[in-house]
Amino acid sequence: MNLNKSSVVDLPLVRQALGLGSPGRWPVWFMRQAGRYLPEYMALRSKMEFVELCRSPKDAAEVTLQPLRRFDLDAAIIFSDILIPCTALGQNLTFGKGHGPQLSPPVQSRDAFRRLRRPDVAAELGYVADALALTKSKLPPGKALIGFAGAPFTVGTYMIEGGSSKEFTATKSMVFRDPVLFADLMKLLRDVTIDYLIMQVKAGADALMLFDTWAGNLTPIDYARDVWPVTADLLATVREATGVPVTYFSGQGSDRILELGGNAQINSRKAFDVLSVDWRVRLSYAARLVKEAGLDVALQGNLDPQALIGPEEQVRASVRSILDEAREACDAGLIHGHIFNVGHGLLPHTPPEAVGWAIDEVRKHGANGPTR
Ligand code: CP3
Repeated sequence: MNLNKSSVVDLPLVRQALGLGSPGRWPVWFMRQAGRYLPEYMALRSKMEFVELCRSPKDAAEVTLQPLRRFDLDAAIIFSDILIPCTALGQNLTFGKGHGPQLSPPVQSRDAFRRLRRPDVAAELGYVADALALTKSKLPPGKALIGFAGAPFTVGTYMIEGGSSKEFTATKSMVFRDPVLFADLMKLLRDVTIDYLIMQVKAGADALMLFDTWAGNLTPIDYARDVWPVTADLLATVREATGVPVTYFSGQGSDRILELGGNAQINSRKAFDVLSVDWRVRLSYAARLVKEAGLDVALQGNLDPQALIGPEEQVRASVRSILDEAREACDAGLIHGHIFNVGHGLLPHTPPEAVGWAIDEVRKHGANGPTR
């Protein structure tokens, strides 16, 4: 357990949490590093449904550890899904073949919202805590264990639409036609996610990450008004309650979060220690925005996951270019560190050997770590 009630998270802690006792190591892990591109995952997955796998601590721990057996990674991310907590709120979750996730009934009215439960997270989602504790007991020393959740907006879109969406029509109808209901849903998700993330740290998570994959779909003005304040409150509350470093990922929106400038903190409360940047934003640009906003944070990212399709030399060159930009930003004092990662999750067609080349290049070209 690491609940120290401190309101200040040291940046060295980010390094420690990612297995960086020694300053010369450049931290690297990959979003969706466990999953369908690994034959050992597919072998296990062929025996059970995805949701069943998430609910089984033994199997979830096994899948969490699979990529660390293959690759020299610095962190494990617990195997689960951002939609799992929706089941505790009372929705039924299935992953139909080729359809992606489906949540029923969708939440599109005040009545449907009233039927949601405010769950006792430890009772309903204790299997995630058990998976974390089991993983932690098996994790080699020096490797960090990352817990995660989806951000209220991103999880909310699935709950409102009843699944994946391109245009987010039902979500935007709620934002524009019933903003009070939308705000109530965001607050419920904030409260449940706070309990859920604190539970994960109690169970052994060394660091936390919040995924806001669809945040970039809102206009910057709507995002700043309706979504960021509740998200920032969630992040700051969890950070203060647990004392572990917190990473925020805003898909297609990492620059807008920085364009909020000083408001990227909330009432002087720090919301995140690391900002995970997608590949559409230059790392050097994100670093300049960090400095302008007066933030004291590290950046994570931002290899295009599709770059891993390329031949070995191209993969290695893409990695070097990110390392060079990150090191320059660290040397210039713009950011406090860098964690190598993809700009969004690894894809099912990713060749596992390409992940190996990328990590090898981080170890070679990044041999002295992000800061000299
Ligand atoms: O990163 C990891 O290795 C940890 C596990 C993890 C999964 N999902 C496993 C998963 C994490 C961190 C997530 C997060 C997640 N889930 C996000 C946010 C990050 C992102 O990628 O944008 C989102 C939006 C989801 C929702 C979700 N889960 C969708 C839309 C889908 C279906 C599409 C797809 O990629 O399959 C999932 C399913 C899912 N989550 C799988 C895995 C390994 C595939 C399930 C299978 O085995 O069939």
